[in-house]
Amino acid sequence: MAIVTARLRLDRLVAADAPALFAYRGDDAVARYQGWKPADIAAAGAFIADQARLAFGTADSWCQLAIRDKATGELLGDVGVHFPASTDEPIEFGLSLRPERQGQGFAREVMAALLDLAFGEWAYRRAVGSVDPRNVSSMALLRSLGFRQEAHHVESYFFRGEWVDDVIFAMLAREWRRHP
Ligand SMILES: CC(C)(COP(=O)(O)OP(=O)(O)OC[C@H]1O[C@@H](n2cnc3c(N)ncnc32)[C@H](O)[C@@H]1OP(=O)(O)O)[C@@H](O)C(=O)NCCC(=O)NCCS
Repeated sequence: MAIVTARLRLDRLVAADAPALFAYRGDDAVARYQGWKPADIAAAGAFIADQARLAFGTADSWCQLAIRDKATGELLGDVGVHFPASTDEPIEFGLSLRPERQGQGFAREVMAALLDLAFGEWAYRRAVGSVDPRNVSSMALLRSLGFRQEAHHVESYFFRGEWVDDVIFAMLAREWRRHP
């Protein structure tokens, strides 16, 4: 499977991606607000192998896609899509870009393509995002796409040795359709 946008191609991660995946997912700045941080290239490879066994779109699972430069094939990052058990439940996304590829609109381009699919072909009615409010770029990304903040849970989540806040964003299909 592949999703093609103006500058990007999203497709499955392959074994050869392990060193590049480890290089940015193992980076402290990229991993700071993420549940998964590979300890070494082998851990990145194991993650890719697990993903290869999972059909894209499997209900009740997180499916990871590579984000590649369409022209060069360079791995720029990855995006996880959480497909819930049914389309009545919200779909969710998790993005990571290599540090040197942030700030160029790639995350927005990926999210726009996935929201088009989520609210079109895949027929979801609601998308959600859950963000640590210190993750300024993620907050900005969701707001720029038209997600609404629905909640701010204060010190609701114990993560890496501290109680952290969790801000919940959401968007409905009809809100995406009228987003400029
Ligand atoms: C979250 C994350 C994916 C957002 O990436 P990003 O690069 O900030 O987002 P975008 O790709 O949409 O880029 C937006 C920026 O690019 C700029 N930009 C440059 N060219 C652009 C273009 N052609 N189109 C749109 N925006 C463009 C925008 O002005 C904006 O800049 P600003 O932040 O100074 O306002 C990234 O910060 C990341 O990987 N973080 C680490 C992992 C992480 O925490 N993930 C979230 C876990 S919940």
